[in-house]
Amino acid sequence: MAELQKDPITRGDFLGFGILGAISGAILTIPPVAFVLSPVIKTNVLGQTDIDQGWQRVATIKDLKELKPGTPDVFEVEFPIEQVYSDKEIQEKFPDSQKSQSDFTVRHAVWISWKAPVKQQGTQGSGGDILGEPEKPAIVDQKSSGFTQSERDEIRGQLNILSNSCAHLGCPVRWFPDKHEFLCPCHGGLYDINGGYVGGPPPRGMYNYTQAEVREDGTLYIKHGYDIEPGLNKQQPYVV
Ligand code: FES
Repeated sequence: MAELQKDPITRGDFLGFGILGAISGAILTIPPVAFVLSPVIKTNVLGQTDIDQGWQRVATIKDLKELKPGTPDVFEVEFPIEQVYSDKEIQEKFPDSQKSQSDFTVRHAVWISWKAPVKQQGTQGSGGDILGEPEKPAIVDQKSSGFTQSERDEIRGQLNILSNSCAHLGCPVRWFPDKHEFLCPCHGGLYDINGGYVGGPPPRGMYNYTQAEVREDGTLYIKHGYDIEPGLNKQQPYVV
């Protein structure tokens, strides 16, 4: 009679596989469990990061004089970041963690241009064509300092001050002079020179810096913050 075939897996092997499986299962379970419990797992290092709300210089009067009507120019602004840790031990060890640190900054690219009349905004395919002369105030070329309040307001009122971050998912946009449009390379969002929506997936126009002022010497300053209004404009930018 043929000999019964021997089982290739011994009892020891079987137990070994079982233990290995249990360990693997436990390891795979940790991330989802930690995710579910994360609200109740406490860390004593929690704190917050805020962008400084002070005025930051963007462009000098020389820059504004050189700004060609119909062509936006990009400027870099560094906003200091304020970081605060809630843990007392960290606060004592690193007293500077309670203050704004000048070497911690977030860099923004800001598009500046003179406002220009364009085709109707907000319609897919409306195009970014400029319909008339961009409105650069004459006073910009007449003086280099000593601007009065009304001259400063006039200059400020004619400036587009736009975030470089696309209003769809935050990719950096670029200006295409031959098309007279900002184009987002990620999904094809289009905007006109004033930041108005022209086409593609963005739900709104480009973000404007709402707090801006021109000083007596013609220098342009801004604070961190955008035009976010109820309704269509309520979406927060994806990039701080
Ligand atoms: Fe610009 Fe999507 S991120 S179109």
